[in-house]
Amino acid sequence: MVQARTIGSQDFMALEDRYGAHNYHPLPVVLSRGQGVHVWDVEGKQYFDFLSAYSAVNQGHCHPRIIGALTEQAQKMTLTSRAFYNDMLGPFERYITEYFGYDRVLPANTGVEGGETAVKLARKWAYTVKGVPANEAKIIFAAGNFWGRTLAAISSSTDPKSTKDFGPYMPGYLIIPYNDLEALEEALQDPTVAGFMVEPIQGEAGVVVPDAGYLRSAYDLCRQHNVLFIADEVQTGIGRTGRLLACDHEGFRPDILVLGKALGGGVFPVSAALARNEIMLSIKPGEHGSTFGGNPLACAVAMASLEVIKDEKLAENAEYLGQIFRQRMQENLVNRTGLVTAVRGKGLLNAIVIDDHEDGQTAWDICMRMADNGLLAKPTHGNIIRFAPPLVMTEDQMHECCDIIEQTVLHYQPGE
Ligand SMILES: Cc1ncc(COP(=O)(O)O)c(C=O)c1O
Repeated sequence: MVQARTIGSQDFMALEDRYGAHNYHPLPVVLSRGQGVHVWDVEGKQYFDFLSAYSAVNQGHCHPRIIGALTEQAQKMTLTSRAFYNDMLGPFERYITEYFGYDRVLPANTGVEGGETAVKLARKWAYTVKGVPANEAKIIFAAGNFWGRTLAAISSSTDPKSTKDFGPYMPGYLIIPYNDLEALEEALQDPTVAGFMVEPIQGEAGVVVPDAGYLRSAYDLCRQHNVLFIADEVQTGIGRTGRLLACDHEGFRPDILVLGKALGGGVFPVSAALARNEIMLSIKPGEHGSTFGGNPLACAVAMASLEVIKDEKLAENAEYLGQIFRQRMQENLVNRTGLVTAVRGKGLLNAIVIDDHEDGQTAWDICMRMADNGLLAKPTHGNIIRFAPPLVMTEDQMHECCDIIEQTVLHYQPGE
């Protein structure tokens, strides 16, 4: 009798390879289900998810409250566009502004749109409030930044992989080194500077953590020079680093706050730029927007996503588990092997640095073996492995995961 052949991982990968653009290089794992900190592949193998969709799934996969909000709202109304009012946007706007302590919010969908909104707000504010001559406004960025893939975003990138063969680039950007206050102070001498947009921890660059006090001092310098401090907290925000916002570690409120990823609880793209009246009201009707921005479904999902963070104390959990993670990696890998040279991060946004002489191959191979052992993580920038699990992890699960990571690295033999 001929056995019916079930479709498996190889078939799904072949389909993507044949019909999709080749703009990603995924680990060869085909996932079909997720719950909390776990995901399962199409063959039913279970993994711990240590990427959380680049921190979009902070609340864990398919959180019942967030899925509940999604399905309830989906049966009533999903999209009105902003041509009309809807009965979810106002409540969401009040909720999120009170939650983060801002006057106003401008909702969008993806993180890069949130960043774009912030840049436009800063420019508009510079012309209409600060008094910068027309078309001369500048935004300062730090080298190593990542805020998405649009032309405005890659124009500030220092990574040739993001920029090569995509020019010409957007003008009006100044790039300074990250974590360098002197360079910032020098750049701020230019009276046409409107804003300084910065990630509190550079995620895509490899979880680069600046010196303690850098962000607060950068904010103070911006204030002295009447320049807006724009925090790109798309990856660091919403509990990930052990505080609600990474800037909370240094006790100040950015002039413009950009959020995305976990604002949609991993189920729906929701982003936002938040600011005080003077900045937000510089943009007038018809000057900026998005068809899907502020849709009722997104509003319902975002409110549930933020409620879960507070009610389940996920920032506090991230702070606690992050300390366990870094301590174990330091003691059992950095201090005991030559293969791992550093562990760094805050809360549950962490990375280990591999002493990789093979242009990222070692880090890739280690991730492949961790996958075999039931834990998914991915290298960034060659030799750095980022570890960012959902924040709903328990302490026991964290120890189990540290065991997997340690055993994988300790037993690693090149070319096996
Ligand atoms: C700090 C930061 N900003 C912005 C973005 C862009 O978000 P999205 O991919 O949703 O456009 C990312 C994505 O990784 C990010 O890490």
